[in-house]
Amino acid sequence: MSEPVRLAAHAKVNLFLRILARESSGYHQIETAFALLELADELAVQRIDSGVTLDVEGPDLGPVDENLVVRAARMVLDATGNRFGVSMKLVKRIPVRAGLGGGSSDGAAALHAVNALAGNAVPRHELLHFAARLGSDVPFFASGAALALAWGRGERQFRVPAPAPLPALIAIPPVQVSTPEAYAWWDELNREPPARGPVSLDADALSTWGSIGRLGGNDFEAIVFGKHPELRGLYERVAATGPVWVRLCGSGSAVAAVYKKEGERDDAVQRLGTRGQRLIPTMTRAVAAPAPTPRD
Ligand code: C5P
Repeated sequence: MSEPVRLAAHAKVNLFLRILARESSGYHQIETAFALLELADELAVQRIDSGVTLDVEGPDLGPVDENLVVRAARMVLDATGNRFGVSMKLVKRIPVRAGLGGGSSDGAAALHAVNALAGNAVPRHELLHFAARLGSDVPFFASGAALALAWGRGERQFRVPAPAPLPALIAIPPVQVSTPEAYAWWDELNREPPARGPVSLDADALSTWGSIGRLGGNDFEAIVFGKHPELRGLYERVAATGPVWVRLCGSGSAVAAVYKKEGERDDAVQRLGTRGQRLIPTMTRAVAAPAPTPRD
C-alpha cells in the first residue's frame, strides 16, 4: 500500500447569514460569508485495489454509505474509471449538528485527497460541481479559500483575503439543531419572503474582525433562539465576555466568538465555565489547508 494522503478538514463559521427566499425546490437562496477556523477533523486516505472503506474515530456518524466522505470518494473514483479503491480514516474533532460544517469539510477533503491519489485527473471546476452535489457548504471548503462571500444556496462564492488570525471560542450546548429543520422553522414564519432593503457592502467590511463584528447578523438566530431559548441564554453569556464578534454558527447550535487577545479568550473560558456547554478554544484561520500532493 502507498503512503496515505493526509488532510486537515477545518470547521467554518458564518460571519453573517441572510435567508432571502425559498426556491420551488425547497432549498433557500441565501447570502452569507464563510470563514475557516483552526479546529479541524483529520482525514487520511490510502490507495487500495478496489472498493471504499471508512473507519471513524469519534462519534457515530450513521450509515457509512451516506457519509459525505464516502460519497465524495466514490464520485472521484467513478469519474476516473475506478482504477483503484480507497481506505479512509477520519478522526472527528468538529462537533456534529452544531453549524460548524464538519461533514461538509470532510467531504471536500475527501474530494481533494482521492483526486490527489488519481494524479489530480479531475479538473478543479468539475471537483467544484461534485462539491455542490454533496452539499451547499461543500464548495466553500473545496475552494481553497479561508474566507468567502457566498450566495445562491451558498455554492456561489467570491473569495476574499481573510484578516490575520485571532483567538476564537466555540461554545457547544447539549442541544443539536438539524439544518433542514431550522429552514422549515424559517418557512413557517415566512409564508411570503420577507421584504429586504438594499445593501451596499464595502470590501473593507471583511478586512478586520472589528468591521466584521459590525456587520448584520444571522437570520437563524431569532428562529433557533425562539425554539431553544437556552441558546439565546448561551449567546448572551458569550456576548457578555467582550468578544469583537459573536454569532450563532450556521443554523446552530454552536455559538462562536472572536477575541482581540488570547488572554481575553482565556478569561472568557474561565467566566463561562463548563456548566451547560462545552468550550473549544481555537483560532480563526487566514489560509486554507494546503492542497495534497499528487501521488501514484
Ligand atoms: O445542501 P445541504 O445538503 O447541506 O443542505 C441540507 C438541507 O438544508 C437541505 O436538504 C435543505 O433542506 C436545507 N438547505 C436549504 N437551503 C440552503 C441550504 C440548505 O433549504 N441554501
